[in-house]
Amino acid sequence: MGEERRYEVAVIEGDGIGPELVTATLEVLDALAADEDFTLSYRHLPGGAAEYLRNGSPLSEESMAAVRAADAVLKGPVGLPEVRFPDGTEAGLLGGVLRGGLDTYANVRPVLLLPGVESPLKVGAGAIDYTIVRENTEGLYASRGLGVGNDWAMTDTLLATRPGCERVSRYACELARRRSGAPEDGVRRVTCVDKANVLRSLYFFRQIFLEVAADYPDLDVECLYVDAAAQALVLQPGHFSVIVTENLLGDILSDLGGATIGGISLCGSGNIGDGAAYFEPIHGSAPSIAGKGLANPVGQLLSAALMFEHLGEAPASGRLRGAVARALADEAVVVARDGSVAGGASAVAAAVCARVG
Ligand code: IPM
Ligand code: MN
Repeated sequence: MGEERRYEVAVIEGDGIGPELVTATLEVLDALAADEDFTLSYRHLPGGAAEYLRNGSPLSEESMAAVRAADAVLKGPVGLPEVRFPDGTEAGLLGGVLRGGLDTYANVRPVLLLPGVESPLKVGAGAIDYTIVRENTEGLYASRGLGVGNDWAMTDTLLATRPGCERVSRYACELARRRSGAPEDGVRRVTCVDKANVLRSLYFFRQIFLEVAADYPDLDVECLYVDAAAQALVLQPGHFSVIVTENLLGDILSDLGGATIGGISLCGSGNIGDGAAYFEPIHGSAPSIAGKGLANPVGQLLSAALMFEHLGEAPASGRLRGAVARALADEAVVVARDGSVAGGASAVAAAVCARVG
């Protein structure tokens, strides 16, 4: 047995159902860590819309410093629809602060159909298994808060830089090499999704992707326009293994992908940079169901599994993913069409804890 590893995890519970999801997840992490030769300690940090209402900022400087100092960061969903800046955009979100501030340029979003989960498509478990790598620091989102205009017109600008396109393309190619290939044909494939036929910025993105991908002759490299990709993700999802795309396109396609595997409540994600990373579900804070015993923590749990993988704790990550998959396969956890689960996050935590082998 090796020397014991210790990880300090910064935890941002967030708004709405966030605290329920995070509490349930930490319960599972404690059960898991009991059989590992590492220990976890948690540092809880306020962040999101409620924090904005309290202190005028969704994340304080001190909390940001604690996030930077932590070994790992687990974040719940943030934001409340009524908490807005004067320009109408949401004030409680942390994407700009964390994704930009930590330079986490790859938003890694696995889309995997698990046993026991019914897809609206006519496919079974394992037939959908791809990862969207969403560019996370540029694209149209770079205009967040900067749109220019007046009461007659408003414009936001899409930013694509050479280093930005290069690094996310390289991340996607490396990931495609590590993965076992597309479900349909086992081919290690990386697909660039863009709108290169219309927008110069996305033609630029594609050209740089192709330059980077030339270093990976072992991969099947292809490009698709986003409209065609949206259709293909429904009609032929088994074709895909890794998709790399611009920020807003990745936002949209990851919800589309989520819908095909039982809903976005089942989707975890990692925001990954060279010096920092944090992990969060891709859905929102669902304030209308907070506290009602309906919240589904599967996306939060799978985010924690990605966090373990990133820490180099692959066995713990596999145990966690396996326990979640078994709870769904056994129908101990049944997800409704609207993403909710009977008994809520604590019932899911109990079912998953009982299955961490
Ligand atoms: C996501 C979310 C965020 C985004 C929202 C909450 C700003 O939808 O992580 O996909 O658009 O990036
Ligand atoms: Mn989204």
